[in-house]
Amino acid sequence: MSYFADKQPLVADIFSRYPASPQGRRSALMPLLREVQNAHGYVSEPQMAEIAALCGTTATEVRSVMSFYSTYHTVPTGKYHLQVCSTLMCSLAGSDELWDHLVETLDVQPGEVSSDGRFSVQKVECLGSCGTAPMMQIADEGYYESVTPSKCARILAALHADTPPAPDNLVPVTVKAEGRQTL
Ligand code: FES
Repeated sequence: MSYFADKQPLVADIFSRYPASPQGRRSALMPLLREVQNAHGYVSEPQMAEIAALCGTTATEVRSVMSFYSTYHTVPTGKYHLQVCSTLMCSLAGSDELWDHLVETLDVQPGEVSSDGRFSVQKVECLGSCGTAPMMQIADEGYYESVTPSKCARILAALHADTPPAPDNLVPVTVKAEGRQTL
């Protein structure tokens, strides 16, 4: 069954935010993608085609838009999606070693989910905090600064225990309210 078949009020609400023109319909692409991504953790090929049909464009264009944002995924991700910055400043500060440690420790490669369903990994471009390299992000929840091997070990131990540590910055209010542990 299509994702949006039983969500017509939601679809109508999203389209109501944009002009009722072909260009306006295409503008709804991003919130429709976000809706599916939030629900499933990724957007499958049939869902890309469905969104394309709703927006009056092609699945190729939907995929092209997704490829521009590391936040969208075309394959399932783990409960904790770890994103390591691989741009120059972080690379110089040790993100390559951090990446090698993660894929070896978690026994997972990009595009895969660890056997326990917990982890997936991805290299991403600059996370905008080069002064605190190397940087790591977990899903969309927040950013972890100066991730040394020992700090990485503490983060992984917390995630294995399903007690995600408080991010170092961009902490959503809801996360603060949960009183997550500080590393
Ligand atoms: Fe990694 Fe900018 S280079 S945060």
